[in-house]
Amino acid sequence: MAKNEQVDISDLIAARLSRRQVLQYGVGSLFATMLPLSGCQQSSGIGLLGFEAIAIADLTDSVVVPEGYSARVFYAWGDPVSDGPAFKMDASNTAEEQLLQAGMHHDALQFFPLPAKVTSSQHGLLVMNHEYIDAQILHVDGGIFDGRESYTAEKTLKEQHAHGISLIEVRQHQGHWHIIRPSQYARRITARTPMSMSGPVAGSDFIKTELDILGEEVLGTFNNCANGQTPWGTYLSCEENFNNYFQLTDAADASDKQKVAWQRYDIKQSYYGWHENDERFNVDFHPNESNRFGWVIEFDPYDPQSRPVKRSALGRFSHENVAHKIAKDGRVAFYSGDDAKFEYVYKFITQDAWDGSQGPKNGRLLDEGVLHVARFNDDGSGHWLPLVFGQGALTPNKDFDSQAEVLVHARLAADAVGATPMDRPEWVTTHPKTGDVYISMTNNAKRGDEDAASSDAANPRNNNQFGHILKLLETDASATQFDWDVFSLAGSEEQGGSIKGDGYANPDGMMIDARGVLWVQTDISAKKLNTDEFSQFGNNQMLAIDPNTGETRRFLTGPVGCEVSGIAMTPDLKTMWVNIQHPGDVPTIMAKQGIKKSASHPNAASNWPDHAVHGRPRSATVLITKEDGGIIGS
Ligand code: FEO
Ligand code: CA
Ligand code: CA
Repeated sequence: MAKNEQVDISDLIAARLSRRQVLQYGVGSLFATMLPLSGCQQSSGIGLLGFEAIAIADLTDSVVVPEGYSARVFYAWGDPVSDGPAFKMDASNTAEEQLLQAGMHHDALQFFPLPAKVTSSQHGLLVMNHEYIDAQILHVDGGIFDGRESYTAEKTLKEQHAHGISLIEVRQHQGHWHIIRPSQYARRITARTPMSMSGPVAGSDFIKTELDILGEEVLGTFNNCANGQTPWGTYLSCEENFNNYFQLTDAADASDKQKVAWQRYDIKQSYYGWHENDERFNVDFHPNESNRFGWVIEFDPYDPQSRPVKRSALGRFSHENVAHKIAKDGRVAFYSGDDAKFEYVYKFITQDAWDGSQGPKNGRLLDEGVLHVARFNDDGSGHWLPLVFGQGALTPNKDFDSQAEVLVHARLAADAVGATPMDRPEWVTTHPKTGDVYISMTNNAKRGDEDAASSDAANPRNNNQFGHILKLLETDASATQFDWDVFSLAGSEEQGGSIKGDGYANPDGMMIDARGVLWVQTDISAKKLNTDEFSQFGNNQMLAIDPNTGETRRFLTGPVGCEVSGIAMTPDLKTMWVNIQHPGDVPTIMAKQGIKKSASHPNAASNWPDHAVHGRPRSATVLITKEDGGIIGS
């Protein structure tokens, strides 16, 4: 056969075998089944996982990793970010002290090498989100629901300071990692930090308030769930369940349009009580304040003075995380799930190409482009539908008057164009080599209920207790069409699962590392954790999956009541940080035995990581290394 007539063998094989197998595991899986061990297999990723899987942890109050690995607590709630005050185990640190310490409920994290623009694996910045707080652990005598009369402005302030983002400087010296204190880079961003709004919503009437008559400056960020990085080296943080911070008592005077929007975004009742002491969280008085949250924010981690920017072009919804992929022409796509039952998956494509340079000046790329939302067709194809004012259903006579409105009410716009409601989209991750896109759907017990949508091909189980992972194939990051398949259904085989190896439920955090290992973290809620049909999964955990074959091995189990959320690795893949969030939530099986957490007994379920006599559980970053200094997971 002449050279120009050569056919890619993978194309031939793929054409002969089922489309489903190719979509699920990639062409690598076909080599695995058809060819003897060869160089092809090596390059297609066979044998990615080299560690011995661990067993489930049944109410074990520690972090467990495989033999040959070490895991140690690195940065816990209350630890100083720089040379600030030490943590007090009785929770008596003041609001001002909390401002200089790690926030609560660590979620996603990212590693940025130092110096900037190099690929150091020994020195860098760790940047992480602090998603929310547990008032019974944060305060000496609990929060608003533990005593309304003792809920002071100081408590509100401490809660606001325990939210947001931490940035710490970390360094490896003689084989040991430590936090550099003091550090010129260290900072905290909280629910009160001034930041800018940019993109089509900036300056619009939707976000103007008494305090900000121009609609340009927002105070703070909160419920920062997961995150992402831009290819130009800035940090992206995602505002998730912002609605839970606003109190709406009297909507009588609001327009019908406004009432619809509040309902669609579930703005009615605050879980925190900030409105008691900080009026901007009272929607009755400040109807636009909640429009200033639910965005993706960007800032330059290398400049401690850099001002965070809310990038409105990426839309307003309960952003879980944001993952990116670069198109052949240099434009960049950013993927983000809206984590609520029957919500959508979005993709923003920049208008302009990225020129490959580093630094925050590239942030302007996030201000112009097209936000799309996914429609999954039952035949395995899919479309990214544009959310552009003036196109299709998004015209004035259909309730939209501007692009700002389309973005502020992105959920309503997505409803109008016919997006596919999903089973709680959590993280998106993109494969660094193949460009494949993986999305975790954590669960949706309402799927199939009388008053709700029934199962479809992309959400194939009614009463979806265990969740699933989808895989999207695109020809390019700029594509507006895709192919998709179910990568795995969680739960045991008897429960309808399709996992090849160690079982898990409720996939949430996901990251594909530079070798191609898919790391999956679980978030079984306390109500279900260790209980009934979930007892077989033990505590929440992290698994490593070979995406070429589906092989799944349990790598880490967390302490009692926690979820595992957040993963970062150094470029050499020899150091990993994982976040443990909300240890100490009480699994139902313990609650049934009379174990009850309270402000006076915060450690009823977990006393991790300190195990002090009068201790309290603390969310924390855990440092993981291989004892022989090798690559994690190999
Ligand atoms: Fe903050 Fe959807 O997890
Ligand atoms: Ca999550
Ligand atoms: Ca979750």
